[in-house]
Amino acid sequence: MDKKNLSIKEIAEISGVSVATVSRVINQNGRFSKETEKKVLEVIKSNNYKTNLVAKSLRMQQTNTIGVIVPDIKNEFFASIVSEIEEYFFEEENYTVFICNSNGEKGKELDYLASLDSKGVDGLIYISGYDDTLHTSVRRNIPVVCIDRKPKENKEIAIIESDNLEGGYQATSLLIEKGCENIVVLKSEKETSTNIDRFEGYRKAIEEYNMSLNEELIINLKKTHFDYAKDAINKLLEKNIKFDGIFAVNDWLALGALYSLKDNNFKISEDVKIVGFDNVSISKYSYPNITTINQNKKLMGRTAAKTLLDLINNKQTKNNIHIKLPINKIYRGTT
Ligand code: RIB
Repeated sequence: MDKKNLSIKEIAEISGVSVATVSRVINQNGRFSKETEKKVLEVIKSNNYKTNLVAKSLRMQQTNTIGVIVPDIKNEFFASIVSEIEEYFFEEENYTVFICNSNGEKGKELDYLASLDSKGVDGLIYISGYDDTLHTSVRRNIPVVCIDRKPKENKEIAIIESDNLEGGYQATSLLIEKGCENIVVLKSEKETSTNIDRFEGYRKAIEEYNMSLNEELIINLKKTHFDYAKDAINKLLEKNIKFDGIFAVNDWLALGALYSLKDNNFKISEDVKIVGFDNVSISKYSYPNITTINQNKKLMGRTAAKTLLDLINNKQTKNNIHIKLPINKIYRGTT
């Protein structure tokens, strides 16, 4: 029969000490005798008393839990990464993973950071949906690994990202090498590092091929969602602005542009070529399927997880780890 999950009060009664003493033993705050500590820990171990503090009292100073903050769990890109992290920690390292979906809202990110901090998580993997990171709000000195979006100033935390600049550069170069002369870039108005770097890659390619930047073709969107891209391309067509190539900073934007062009009877690739970013499943199953820049989501998730575990095990909080994972082109029907 499962042992009853005892309360700290019941542990105190069985041990014949006060609740305050049990708490001091659990927190290893001292002011108790060796035999009291032995007795209390025996009662804790022989009963089903689960709390992060028990783990801590066993001098592991750990709770074997981590927190993951993600801006949009519905987005396949983030979901793929988070499931890698969860699988690694739960199945290979016997950790519990708290997954917090912030919807990219600053207030929610702060609330989740505070809640994970109070749960005593041993470390944090943080994908900010806001245009900077808020990990400094975590009170305890725990290791933090940022994925995908970099903090504006690096506060000695680990960063795992794709080579976004190279990805933007390769996407745009591909379009130019396919004969495109007027290339639209669909990007976010948010100043996230991924967005800034991909646009930098676009700009670098335009410059290197001796083309000039045309402000009319640089589209800053409120949200990097399908509808925003579709509307933006519709507007360019209504204004009769000429273009023959589109670089979209993620695959959903590429799909939105694709739908706009198809609705307006353009032939994809013959009339306008499109390159996306991420290589999520919509790029593979759309018609035509979308040429895109692959981000290695599995590797990103596992690299972040292993980096965090090393930092936890080495009790190292401050670090300047910065891992940039290679990207690669996936050629499909839109080019
Ligand atoms: O689809 C989500 C996008 O935002 C991805 O490109 C990812 O890199 C993130 O920055």
